[in-house]
Parts: sequence; C-alpha cells; structure tokens
Amino acid sequence: MYKERLLTPGPTPIPQRVLQAMELPMLHHRSDVFKKHLAKACEGARWLFGWDSDPIFLACSGTGAMEAALLNCCSPGDTIISVNGGVFGARWGKIAERLQIQVKEIEVAWGAAVTLEQVREAVASAPHAKAFCIQHAETSTTVLHPVSDVLAEVKRLAPSMLTIVDGISSCATTPMPGGPSTLDMYIAGSQKALMLPPGLSLMALSSHAWQVVESTPKRTLYFDLATERKSLKSGETSWTPASTIIVGLNAAIEIFREEGLEEIYARHSLLSRMARAGVQALGCELLAPDAACPSVTGFFPPPSVDADALRTAVRSRFGLRLAGGQGKFKGKILRIGHMGYVDPFEVSAAISAIGLCLASSGAKVDMSGATIACLQCL
Ligand SMILES: Cc1ncc(COP(=O)(O)O)c(C=O)c1O
Repeated sequence: MYKERLLTPGPTPIPQRVLQAMELPMLHHRSDVFKKHLAKACEGARWLFGWDSDPIFLACSGTGAMEAALLNCCSPGDTIISVNGGVFGARWGKIAERLQIQVKEIEVAWGAAVTLEQVREAVASAPHAKAFCIQHAETSTTVLHPVSDVLAEVKRLAPSMLTIVDGISSCATTPMPGGPSTLDMYIAGSQKALMLPPGLSLMALSSHAWQVVESTPKRTLYFDLATERKSLKSGETSWTPASTIIVGLNAAIEIFREEGLEEIYARHSLLSRMARAGVQALGCELLAPDAACPSVTGFFPPPSVDADALRTAVRSRFGLRLAGGQGKFKGKILRIGHMGYVDPFEVSAAISAIGLCLASSGAKVDMSGATIACLQCL
C-alpha cells in the first residue's frame, strides 16, 4: 500500500471534516443558503484575525491578493518599499513593475530576517513611499520576519505609509503581527494553515487602508476591493466566489475554535522546534538558524547528499512529499511544511524517514539521536 502524505508548505493536508463539508451539492452563490455560509465565514475570519472589520474574500491564489493590494492603493509612478529576502519578497517587486510602481527594495540575505536598522534606512530614503510590503513568513527561506516590530517602526517613522503584510504562510500558525493601528492590509491564503484547497484568498484592511483604497483612482475591475466591500454589505460577493472553499472555511474555523487559537500557535511552535531539533541531530544545517518559522523548516543535507535525490527517496520509500528549494536554493535544500492539519507524530515520522534515506545514501547518521532530539521537544 502507498499512502501519499503532504508535508509541504502548501498545499497542506485537509481534515476529513472539511472535505465532507465541501461535499454538499453545489450551492448557488446568490442563494440564501450560501449567503448564510458567507456571513458565517465573515464572522469566522473576524474571529481568526481578531479584527472588527469584515474580511474580503477573493477567488484567487495568494499572488492575486498581493496584486490586488497594490492595485488598490497605488497608482503608476507611486513608490513602495518591499522587503526582499526570498522568492515571495521578490514578488512584490515583480508585481509592482507590471503596475508601473517604483520599488525601493530592502535586500535581505536569504535565510536571514530583516533588521530594524534596514527598515529605518529604507524608510528614511523613501519617506513618501505609498506602502511598505513584507512577508510575515518568507516560505522560500523558512524565515519568520519580526513583523510586529517592523510595523511599529514604520508607523513611528512614517505614520501614513500603508503597511501590507503577506500572511499567506503564517496565518493560523502564529498571531497576526501588529493590529489595526500598525497593520493596514493583511493577506491570507486557503491552501496553507487554513487547511483548505487552493483558490481562496482573504484580506483584512484597517480603516486607514480603506481610506486610501477609496481615494485611489480605480484601475482594476475584478480586484476592486471597495466594490467587493459594498457587495459584502449586502451579503454577497461581486463575482462568482470560491463558494465551495468558503463552505470549507467554516468547517476549518469550527475546528480552530475547538482547538483554540493559543493552542494552535503553541502546536505550530512545537512542530517547528521538533523539526529543527530533528534535522540538526541528523547532521543537517538549518537554513534559517536565527529566524525559526512556525510553518516550515528548511535545511541543507550533508554535503555528500544531493538534496533533490533525498527528497525523491523520501517520497518513493515513504509516500512523504517534502518541498525542495526555490530560486537560488533550488536543488540545494529541503523544506518540511508543518502547517495546518499536522501533528507531532507526523513531524517525528518525517525526521525518521529523512534519517533512513540519508543513511541509505551513505551519510553517517545518528537516527535514534535524531528521533530522541525531536521527541524531547514534547
Ligand atoms: C509567503 C507566500 N506568499 C505568497 C505566496 C504565493 O501564493 P500562491 O502560490 O497561492 O499564489 C506563497 C505561496 O507559497 C507564499 O508562501
């Protein structure tokens, strides 16, 4: 028997209860039944984000929501500051370029977190930038940026600069950074710790962000957030929504409520500690030794072992799918996704599987030491 298991940083495993909720006969998105699901999803997302304002639901993957954020608050010729410490940090710049927005990038070494000094320098050199954009978790380098402190610093130096946070791979693994006074736009994506299929993005906006959105000349129809907000007030979305995933979101949020947010964050912190202790005890080097990420752990295998061959071996022997590297880490690292519907047993089993495959490829490995290091975190 071969069972496929996903420990990738998106998509992630989906609980049976969520799958079953999505098995309902297809609902019409203008029906009263669906409107009830949408209202419940709004309430659930407000609870998850801890914000009063209604979230916006977009039928797109995370990149679409990043683009929607810039489209709605920037005009051609505006400048943004973005933190570029990996593939997703670089994406702000790519989107901005297509939209004729100037970018002042803070270049961060891959595997490191941005520093407040870098933030201060960038804001001082572009004090009139329209927005400051950052990932909370930079999934490609498995780094959690110190976003609460970063946002506070940006707002201290430039109170009207919009802060936009990509929380796509951190939402529901760690508290949302900042609050409505320092965080203006927050983006989450369904296929990560929300335990859902891909195709739904959520956004939360502060009142300051809404003011900017309302006063920015419109240049997108599909991603017009102001119109979307108006539609939501009448209980609908502007366009055909990712309705099945919204129904699934309500089931996922029920599960979150049962576990409790603090417990969810504690579980992700535990999974991260287990993964980090396990791979280090296997003789592997952590990719982000100083910026532990609750959702994903990256590591370099020992120099004698090919990273992609190791990943393939783990998949073919154990059915366990891990992620490889992206961008300049392609072929050099492995990433263990441990977000969403993942528990300590799975991370411990992943460490054992990686250990066995390392040993089979000739590396000298202390397998029992690694399992103990991992389990001692419990
Ligand atoms: C932090 C982060 N931002 C953005 C994205 C892009 O999201 P999508 O692939 O859903 O467009 C991802 C996807 O992995 C991500 O991890």
